[in-house]
Amino acid sequence: MFHIMSHVIALGLVTYICWFAVPGTSLFSWHPTLMILGFGFFMLEAILIFSKNSNLFPNATQAVKVRCHWILQILATSCAVGGFLVIFINKNRSNKPHFISWHGILGAITMFLTCIQTSMGTGLLYPKLPLFNTLKLVTLKRLHALSGALFFILSCLVIFLSLYSNWFVRKAGLYTLSWWTCAVCIIMLAVFVNNQIAQVYLFKKK
Ligand code: HEM
Repeated sequence: MFHIMSHVIALGLVTYICWFAVPGTSLFSWHPTLMILGFGFFMLEAILIFSKNSNLFPNATQAVKVRCHWILQILATSCAVGGFLVIFINKNRSNKPHFISWHGILGAITMFLTCIQTSMGTGLLYPKLPLFNTLKLVTLKRLHALSGALFFILSCLVIFLSLYSNWFVRKAGLYTLSWWTCAVCIIMLAVFVNNQIAQVYLFKKK
């Protein structure tokens, strides 16, 4: 039950936000669409692939899971970069100031950290690369998993803050059933990832 729930919640949230945004109707419409697809689907699935509880392919070997993980993460990072460029260009076009809301400021920080996390992942894939070859592989793995979980939870906070944006409040209202449904779904995604990483890396018996 638990293992299906995370995928259903993620798919439901992505569909709902895309339905609100109607991708293609304006340049802005691609910002929520690409962001929720990137973080709420590709990145979530990329992390859940390693979970014992919510894994869609429980019999896959570790090598297959690692390959699926980096392919999904490349898709997630591409969506995130696309979503960021869209909102940046859109603001330039309408002569609006940049990074003035908490969503915008934390969103920019999350984007930067996502790029760092992606390069750390590249270091795990190619540990002989300069800089990465100075670190022990097991240390790099732990760091990658813990920072990955932390950054994902931060991205959930950024999505949560977007529920307070004028755009979302105009579509769904504030503290309405639809607002709370989105809020609870976003919190659930953060909880799933937090539990998975905590179980594997923090509470592992030596
Ligand atoms: C469903 C998800 C999302 C929705 C509905 C949404 C909505 C919005 C809206 C309405 C704005 C313009 C108002 C403002 O500046 O605060 C905005 C700006 C922004 N968003 Fe999002 N957003 C979402 C997800 C994300 C995510 C996941 C990130 C980054 C990880 C992000 C990063 C940004 C940034 C950096 C800005 C400001 C850009 C600038 O000032 O040039 N957004 N978003």
